[in-house]
Amino acid sequence: MATIIDEVSRTFNEFLIIPGLTTKECTPDNVTLKAPLVKYKKGQQPKISVNIPFVSSIMQSVSDSGMAIALAKEGGVSFIFGSQTIEEQAKMIKKVKQYKAGFVVSHANLTPENTLADVIALKLKTGFSTVGITHDGTPNGRLLGVVTGRDYRPSRDNKQSKVKDFMTPIEKLTVGKHGISLSEANNIIWENKLNSLPIIDDNGELQYFVFRKDYENHKENPNELLDDHKRLVVGAGINTRDYAERVPALVEAGVDVVCIDSSDGFSVWQKETIEYIKNYDKNVLVGAGNVVDREGFLYLAKAGADFVKVGVGGGSICITREQKGIGRGQATALIEVAKARDEYYEKTGEYIPICSDGGIVQDYHMTLALAMGADFLMMGRYFARFDESPTRKMLVNGNYVKEYWGEGSNRARNWQRYDSGGSEGLKFEEGVDSYVPYAGKLKDNLAITLGKIKSTMCSCGVINLTDLINKSKITLVSSTSIIEGGAHDVIVKDTKN
Ligand code: IMP
Repeated sequence: MATIIDEVSRTFNEFLIIPGLTTKECTPDNVTLKAPLVKYKKGQQPKISVNIPFVSSIMQSVSDSGMAIALAKEGGVSFIFGSQTIEEQAKMIKKVKQYKAGFVVSHANLTPENTLADVIALKLKTGFSTVGITHDGTPNGRLLGVVTGRDYRPSRDNKQSKVKDFMTPIEKLTVGKHGISLSEANNIIWENKLNSLPIIDDNGELQYFVFRKDYENHKENPNELLDDHKRLVVGAGINTRDYAERVPALVEAGVDVVCIDSSDGFSVWQKETIEYIKNYDKNVLVGAGNVVDREGFLYLAKAGADFVKVGVGGGSICITREQKGIGRGQATALIEVAKARDEYYEKTGEYIPICSDGGIVQDYHMTLALAMGADFLMMGRYFARFDESPTRKMLVNGNYVKEYWGEGSNRARNWQRYDSGGSEGLKFEEGVDSYVPYAGKLKDNLAITLGKIKSTMCSCGVINLTDLINKSKITLVSSTSIIEGGAHDVIVKDTKN
């Protein structure tokens, strides 16, 4: 007979945190949310720590280079989706690694032979009023001049006049040398009262522009997550099939950490993948998962995983539980795996971070997951709602929404994630195609979410995540106490109008 586990498997919604003593040091600005991303030995530091305990899901509809740049700027990490060709994925990784805050690759470019009409048309099309004039009209061609709104009067000037006759030529431009820092570039901008500074290399080829208007923007990212070369940190999803080709290409592109993406990670395929990667280069950091119990965690820990992801069937777009009958309530899974991680640490001196993946609905669920022992959280729905996610923003029934589809849906066709070995492809769907309410900019939403987490931590009397795990008290709630938790027995005023 099968082993029957008596304990009910529970979700975050069934718990609350009990406040602890708040002392004077417990203010939100004293709270740090730094967390280990990968394993470390007792007394040592992890190779990567995140400044906020959030990573974005390995999904087509969530994590591309745009999301990765935005999230790393805020202190988290995106795992760029693996359900695309190796070349496309490596290109996205490179884009993140080449991104330099404040250094913008020129989006609008023409040659000296173009006309004023071309300049006006380009401005209309791209919205950019600073046009790089290069010998071949490409973003990285030899810089010959710059055209801005100050160089022409659309109402008066002849639309057929050549760019070379009204551009500011290179001899009259102040330029920065490739390799200067952002603060050096900003100093040149301030000293010379410029609006933009072209950055050129030794061959005179245009590399970037630095804009005065971006100055405030780049002072505002104190949490930015950077590698040793001051590049943004980025992760990538991989599968248990083509890792021998994919991983070297991603490493070559500069990826900081990879993660095997599977709906069921307790498998010999994951062990083989980790072993292969560590043999290829022991410095490549690799997360594995997903698992929902002690055994699954220990298996991947012993196989050499640098972190382990927890969660089967709890994702908002996930129908794995309905389709296959496998899974476990996310809170229960997390609590058991966190215990296993702590025991493993006691026994081996190796701390293997765990990531709670999927099922976060309310912001307070994040604090609960962290208090239950998650080192960091992977979220899909949360990030899919923002401007920075790769999907379309649409108007549906009068409300703005963004598209969000599961990796197990027909739309994503990510059969490797649901692969059970053998040669069968995707036979049935494990995810749905959906919309999520559009929520605006990642930065603005994150500020609110992090504010809530910090405030809850202060209520618990803690200012770091280790203390949150060790000191917080969590209680189960009854269904009637959930009703008590909302506004009740009052007529709530409609404050929308
Ligand atoms: P969410 O944050 O609740 O939206 O869950 C996102 C998580 O769901 C991802 O990080 C994946 O682990 C998981 N996931 C992604 N696509 C699918 C799918 O199609 N079926 C089941 N789970 C999925």
